[in-house]
Amino acid sequence: MAEALRIGIAGLGTVGASVARVLRDKSAELTRQCGREIVVTAVSARDRSRDRGVDLGGAKWFDDPIELAEKADIDVFVELIGGDEGAARSCVSAALDAGRHVVTANKALLAKHGVALAEVAEKKGVLLNYEAAVAGGIPVIKTMREAMAGNSVNRVFGILNGTCNYILTRMEAEGLTFEACLKDAQRLGYAEADPTFDIEGNDTAHKLAILTSLAFGTRIASDDIYLEGISNITQADIRAAGELGYRIKLLGVAQRTESGIEQRVHPTMVPTASVIAQVHGVTNAVAIETDILGELLLSGPGAGGNATASAVVGDIADIAKSRPGFQHGPVFGRPAKELRPYKKAQMRSHAGGYFIRLTVHDRTGVFAAIAKRMADNDISLESIVQHANGSDGATQKTVILVTHETTEAAVRKAVDGVTKDGHLTDKPQVIRIERAG
Ligand SMILES: NC(=O)c1ccc[n+]([C@@H]2O[C@H](COP(=O)([O-])OP(=O)(O)OC[C@H]3O[C@@H](n4cnc5c(N)ncnc54)[C@H](OP(=O)(O)O)[C@@H]3O)[C@@H](O)[C@H]2O)c1
Repeated sequence: MAEALRIGIAGLGTVGASVARVLRDKSAELTRQCGREIVVTAVSARDRSRDRGVDLGGAKWFDDPIELAEKADIDVFVELIGGDEGAARSCVSAALDAGRHVVTANKALLAKHGVALAEVAEKKGVLLNYEAAVAGGIPVIKTMREAMAGNSVNRVFGILNGTCNYILTRMEAEGLTFEACLKDAQRLGYAEADPTFDIEGNDTAHKLAILTSLAFGTRIASDDIYLEGISNITQADIRAAGELGYRIKLLGVAQRTESGIEQRVHPTMVPTASVIAQVHGVTNAVAIETDILGELLLSGPGAGGNATASAVVGDIADIAKSRPGFQHGPVFGRPAKELRPYKKAQMRSHAGGYFIRLTVHDRTGVFAAIAKRMADNDISLESIVQHANGSDGATQKTVILVTHETTEAAVRKAVDGVTKDGHLTDKPQVIRIERAG
């Protein structure tokens, strides 16, 4: 049997401790599958005295993860600290510079420095594996990088943040407000004390940036993502979506268009009958549309110790199975130096259907004025519905428009026009509709 593969783990929190536990509990099975033993020989975290709930046996403790990366007797450095700078970036760089394979779950780090790190890994002839960085336990990186060779991707989209999907699912199922659902998500540990990163779409954007690079062979461009979170989604939107046969999801979408690649994260209406609309709660899903395969949808647990550890351990097992001298495949599917510059499609040229909800004064001529603004911008309407707000004597109405395919620029111009006409009593709500099978 080949020599044991020696692992160093930096970060022993939710994911790190789970990885150590799985490697220990599944040791015999992993040895059979990989043809060699996998042994944790070194670990690092901040607090040496904390009980991690797992026997770390003879692993050597390092207070400094960079020292672990550079000096420990290891073959694979596993980074589970998190963050795009600081300790995580320094120790991953140090491990690659030292010619060690790296496994990480750190989407923030890869979204910002992934291409530069991949260049080092490829120059050194080592692996940089990151299955857990996108959609937790769902094997989407492997699928896109290995199983879809020869396919040209047209669009990749998904539910990439469990916190947002949990909130939207409960808002719809129980008629609760956004704020009430967010509080519950925090109480149950699905959302951080500061949930901004999740609910404003940044976490989804990091994962989308990685998927875009894999899908289109472009350099990662996480600063070029159109971003809108879910904090302004109301019960009125959820109810109207339901009545029209849609469900609201926070999607990350990357799509090839004539003018470049769109990367966008925003609340999206998907047909209630579509497969992605059936993805509830904290579950994640990724849909990939290609020329050869058609549409593939993967769904499963996107976070949590065990699910994430499953992906990290899979990455470690791949390294255990690789043989010395074997040429490793490139980190983002193409050699990092050959990744093309990202050509951004402007959001204003985005083409699609739109849901527009307007709260207006209940007076003569308003409806006609709205219809005129739409017609002036060549927007053709699939449906237009109006509701009186409240009972007799209400002075406001809600007007809900669903457009046929049009452009973002046209919708913005039309809605600006309606706003200038002075008919609105509240901020207009605009939600993009996404085609989904
Ligand atoms: N949690 C999930 O469900 C999930 C899912 C997918 C991906 N991820 C990614 O996995 C990574 C880890 O997430 P997590 O949830 O496990 O985080 P976590 O529970 O906060 O754990 C972070 C760990 O890093 C250690 N650490 C922090 N700064 C350090 C430093 N300077 N030197 C050494 N150790 C340091 C902490 O030490 P102490 O314990 O001593 O404080 C802790 O053990 C992140 O990149 C995250 O985005 C997480």
